[in-house]
Amino acid sequence: MPPWLIVVLVAAGLVALGAILYWQLIIAEGVYLGQRVVTWLYDLAARRYDDIKQYDDDMEAVFLGRPLADMLRPVPGALVLDIATGTGRLPLALFEQPAFRGRVIGVDASRSMLEIAAQKLRGNEHRLMLLWRDASSLPFADGAFDAVTVLEMLEFTPDPATQLAEAVRVLRPGGILVTTRRRGWNAALMPGKTHSPDEFRALLESLGLTRVELLPWQVDYDLVWAVKPGHVPSGARHMLDVLHCPACRSAQWEEHPAELCCGVCHAAYPVKDGIIDIRGKQ
Ligand SMILES: C[S@@+](CC[C@H](N)C(=O)[O-])C[C@H]1O[C@@H](n2cnc3c(N)ncnc32)[C@H](O)[C@@H]1O
Repeated sequence: MPPWLIVVLVAAGLVALGAILYWQLIIAEGVYLGQRVVTWLYDLAARRYDDIKQYDDDMEAVFLGRPLADMLRPVPGALVLDIATGTGRLPLALFEQPAFRGRVIGVDASRSMLEIAAQKLRGNEHRLMLLWRDASSLPFADGAFDAVTVLEMLEFTPDPATQLAEAVRVLRPGGILVTTRRRGWNAALMPGKTHSPDEFRALLESLGLTRVELLPWQVDYDLVWAVKPGHVPSGARHMLDVLHCPACRSAQWEEHPAELCCGVCHAAYPVKDGIIDIRGKQ
C-alpha cells in the first residue's frame, strides 16, 4: 500500500473516531454508554454548567417560575419534586416568586451538580431538600407531589417513557407535570430518546395525563405542561413525610447532624453539605 494511502486512511479513521466521540459524549452526553457515563460527564461539567447554559433570570421567571407559582397558588404549602434538579434551576426560579409558599425536593444522580445547587440555594434549607440518587426509581409514595418537573433530562435516561411514568406515579391527581421535549437538529441524532411533538403528546396521554400543551421554548427544547386528571386535595406535609426509606419503604425518620436514619430498619443515609445520599442499593 502506498504511504500516501496509509496517511489518508489514518486521517479518515481519526476524523471518524472524533465524530463518533463528539456524537456520543457531547451531543448524546453519554446516554448510549450507560447511566454511569452520563453521571460522570455531569460530575465533570458541573462547575462550568451554569456558564455554558447562561440562563437569564427574567426568562426563567417568565417561562418557569411565575406560571408554575401561579398554578400552585390555590395550594398553600405545595410540594414540588424536581427530577434531575442539576444546579438548582427550578427551585431557584420558584423561590424567586413571592406567590410560591411551598417546598421543593430536588433529586439528581450527579453529586457535583447538587453541590452547586446547594451553594446557590443556601438559606432555603427550610423549604428545600436535595437528594443524591438515580431518579429511575423514586423513593416516594404514589401521588405525593402537587407538581413534578423533569427539565432537560428525559433524553439522557435509559428509557424516557419509563422515567415519565415514574414521574406521573408520584404526582397526585390534579397535580401538574412540567417537562421538556428535545427538539432541533441534534434531536435526530438521539434515536430512541427523542420524540416528535405528536409522539410526545401521545406518550403523555398514554400515561393518563390531560391538558397537554407543548410550547416552543429554547433552541433545543419545547416546554411541556400537563395535568394528572382527578382531584385529590393536597395534604401539606413536611418533606420527610413523603420520603420513603429505599430499604424498607417506611417514612419514619430520625434526623441526626450527619445522617438521616430510618426509624424502622435503621438504615443510615449520610447528609453532607446539605445533600442527602439516599442512593441505597439501586
Ligand atoms: C441538562 S441537565 C438539566 C438540569 C436541570 N433540570 C436544568 O434544567 O438545568 C441534566 C441533569 O440530569 C441529571 N440526570 C441524568 N440522568 C439522571 C438520572 N437517571 N437520575 C437523576 N438525575 C439524572 C444529570 O445529572 C443532570 O444534572
